[in-house]
Amino acid sequence: MTDLPVPIGLLAELTHRCPLGCPYCSNPIELTRAKAELDTKTWLNVLNEAANLGIMHVHLSGGEPLVRPDLAELTNAAHLAGLYTNLITSAVGLTVQRFSELRAAGLDHVQISIQGVDPARADSVAHFKGGTRAKLDAAKRVVEAGMALTINAVLHRNNMDELPAIIGLAESLGAGRLEVAHVQYHGWAIPNRAALMPTREQFLEAERIVVEARARLEGTLVIDHVMPDYFAERPKACMGGWGRQVIVVTPDGRALPCHAAATIPGLDFDNVRKKSLADIWHHSEAFNRFRGTQWMPKPCNGCERAEIDWGGCRCQALSILGDATATDPACALSPNHARMKELAVATATNTYRFRRIGG
Ligand code: SF4
Ligand code: FES
Repeated sequence: MTDLPVPIGLLAELTHRCPLGCPYCSNPIELTRAKAELDTKTWLNVLNEAANLGIMHVHLSGGEPLVRPDLAELTNAAHLAGLYTNLITSAVGLTVQRFSELRAAGLDHVQISIQGVDPARADSVAHFKGGTRAKLDAAKRVVEAGMALTINAVLHRNNMDELPAIIGLAESLGAGRLEVAHVQYHGWAIPNRAALMPTREQFLEAERIVVEARARLEGTLVIDHVMPDYFAERPKACMGGWGRQVIVVTPDGRALPCHAAATIPGLDFDNVRKKSLADIWHHSEAFNRFRGTQWMPKPCNGCERAEIDWGGCRCQALSILGDATATDPACALSPNHARMKELAVATATNTYRFRRIGG
């Protein structure tokens, strides 16, 4: 491919280990165990390769990246390589000492996920007692240190009523950005779909609240609203387009175009233990499979939005239609759009299958 863009971001999934058990986790059902994780030396190499490839941002993620004792060493290496470092964390474990080590290592930004504002409800969704308290303490620490903070709140049918309070919390904490993201149905969210799915009325109300808050908080708090595909008429450009902006490296070293790509059968994923990131980005069969527009079937093929949404999400087409090459059913032009609407049905339950290693 001659017009291949330079990737912007590396999503470094350092581990799948996590003390929390959120039922909407985007990690795969088959979680990687600690003994299969990349060692420090290999991650250091990957971070340098990312910088050499022209990547600007590294997202240190998981699972919970704080469970890796080498996190400060990796952060420092990324910092010295010229990468902007973003820690994506539950903040459970972001103690005074860990935070100060990371700060000294050159960490630029912290993104803390919250499950809601009511501690009992939030801790029950996270399947972790005392998590909310730890998150708030850590968030205050980040702001007091003058570091950029994003609060991320995943919205679902059982916490949507807390949205105004979530916005208020981000504001009072002094976060620069709030990401309110409706559940994206990958990984653990698929078996929990019916319990997490909001009603259309809840979704519309959330949109109204965000629009109002954005106007009120302009210049103080940036609010990103990640929409639920199930109520959409057109899909999002998943990951900014397959193989266009982001490389995901899994805890065991596979390089993927998106976090759920490994669910797609028949794709051969290269491993950073054996190939350089540059080689993978340019030549990997998996990255090239759905890159650009050549692979697209009708109605994407010839559609005026083909280079805007890049045909939506391959993993969603697979999980709903059993065919990763199909037009994303989130698109109203897809012959299978009705199937998506059928699945957009909430059930009156909050019985979840919580995330844990070993299924
Ligand atoms: Fe996007 Fe394909 Fe739908 Fe066109 S037909 S809007 S390219 S998903
Ligand atoms: Fe894989 Fe969208 S999550 S393409």
